[in-house]
Amino acid sequence: MSSQGFVAPQSVSSSVFKDGIFNGKVVFCTGGGSGICRGMTQAMMRHGANATIVGRKLDRVTQTAKELMAATGKKCLPCQADVRHPQALKDAVAKTIELYGRIDFVICGAAGNFLAPISAVSENAFRTVVEIDTLGTYNTVKATIAHLRATKGAYIHVSAMMHYKGTPLQAHVSAAKAGVDALSAALAVEEGPHGVRSNVIAPGATAGTEGMDRLEGKGDGSTEYLYPLGRMGAISDIENATVFLFSEAASYITGQILPVDGASEQVRTQV
Ligand code: HXC
Repeated sequence: MSSQGFVAPQSVSSSVFKDGIFNGKVVFCTGGGSGICRGMTQAMMRHGANATIVGRKLDRVTQTAKELMAATGKKCLPCQADVRHPQALKDAVAKTIELYGRIDFVICGAAGNFLAPISAVSENAFRTVVEIDTLGTYNTVKATIAHLRATKGAYIHVSAMMHYKGTPLQAHVSAAKAGVDALSAALAVEEGPHGVRSNVIAPGATAGTEGMDRLEGKGDGSTEYLYPLGRMGAISDIENATVFLFSEAASYITGQILPVDGASEQVRTQV
């Protein structure tokens, strides 16, 4: 059950959902250039959606968009934008509307992280993570909400498990993700009357992500995970949760946090 000898799958399950359930729909994803958000976008495209992916590095989102189009046969528009800059997001939304005419689903996934104790993290470092995760989510919602009202669409915010109890070296991210959860809950009750849903996916330790690389970066054995299901999470686990939450099967689910963590637990042997 410990992280020694764990299985780290890239993909452990294929979709059980019908093909084409998102035909004619459009998904807009921040942080879609890599990792979990890339997988979430690909899953939506596999089920028929066209996509826009937003990231800070144009070369990365451009390459990812090419790969996603080749893998799914759907369209993917790469847009360079930093979620801390509202105008850049508005421009990405405008390009999306120009190309597709609509946005049905938004994935707020852009995030920043590093390991640092609260006693040492600088004001600017703390602010940077809150600005990317929390303010970036707010900026994304502001840029897209009118379009989601028009389509009676849905949001998924990518959070984490670490802030549901104290996690060392993650005060900045924990504060930021708690804000993301709160924004989603407020959005659900305010926008429900307009037909818009908002939910959170809270991934646990997920193989093949930059987050895991960063959190395990020390390589000194100080971070261990316990895996009751005998394996680490895979990006495909988050993909399946995404397809479910955006699908009609979840039409009465809003304002919720869905942990996708296999009941795994992070254990630190030193701070
Ligand atoms: C302490 C650090 C630091 C570190 C940066 N800073 N790295 N402080 N330890 N390792 C400080 C800098 O010194 C600076 O403060 C401030 O943070 C801003 O740094 P910049 O490099 O100027 O910021 P920026 O270029 O905007 O980069 C943002 C970033 C970076 C968050 C710092 O790590 C980044 O770009 N991350 C994006 C990718 C990413 O993190 N993906 C993983 C997401 S996973 P001073 O005081 O010196 O000015 C996730 C959930 C994981 O979020 C959950 C897993 C279970």
